[in-house]
Amino acid sequence: MTNIKSIAIDGPVASGKTTVGRIVARRLGFRFLDTGLMYRAVTWVALQRDIGLEDGDTLAAMAEGLTMDLVPGSGDDRLLADGEDVTEHLRDPKVDAGVSFVSRVSGVRTVLVKGQREMAERDDFVMVGRDIGTVVLPNARLKVYLGASVDLRARRRHHEISKEAGEALPYEQVLADLTRRDRIDSERADSPLRAAPDAIRVETDDLDIEGVVERILAMVE
Ligand code: DC
Repeated sequence: MTNIKSIAIDGPVASGKTTVGRIVARRLGFRFLDTGLMYRAVTWVALQRDIGLEDGDTLAAMAEGLTMDLVPGSGDDRLLADGEDVTEHLRDPKVDAGVSFVSRVSGVRTVLVKGQREMAERDDFVMVGRDIGTVVLPNARLKVYLGASVDLRARRRHHEISKEAGEALPYEQVLADLTRRDRIDSERADSPLRAAPDAIRVETDDLDIEGVVERILAMVE
């Protein structure tokens, strides 16, 4: 791996990594990749093809055969799976509910990690996910791990969902779902959510988005 400029940002659900990563990428003139969207795309396509989310072998074979392209658009990049724009489906509640199962499958991870590394070989990226600093880009120029209390993250997620869906889910349900996903992501055998030993931890409870962005840009310099 020759890439040395890309930046890895990892953290749990609703730690702010996507919002922050996108802004940091823009300021640095780097491309941005939210790797969670790739796991979501595999989940969406599997649901479309009636593949059971417990069927690891079939999921891995499907991921292997799936072509994924990130296409810059006027707003956020679009994600194409086998040429079809699946961007709008990636936050579907069915995908939310199933993606932790898909991202546990080692065969799926191997395929997606390979694609992510190839992208970082070609361009400078701010890449966000769970295993970027530990597995995908262990030689990233900078590794950041964003932390935030579970209560703050659940409140953020609750707010996001209410805005997206236009209706409020009970806070307790959002908290329970987030805690469940944290547990699956942290306890899985392959590439569990962890801060890399050389990652710089930023606790975001007392910082706004701009504050976190400024900290990361200062580290880059
Ligand atoms: O960040 P997110 O909520 O969109 O991620 C969706 C799922 O994918 C979540 O269960 C964690 C998993 N994921 C992963 O295992 N590795 C990554 N690099 C990114 C996401």
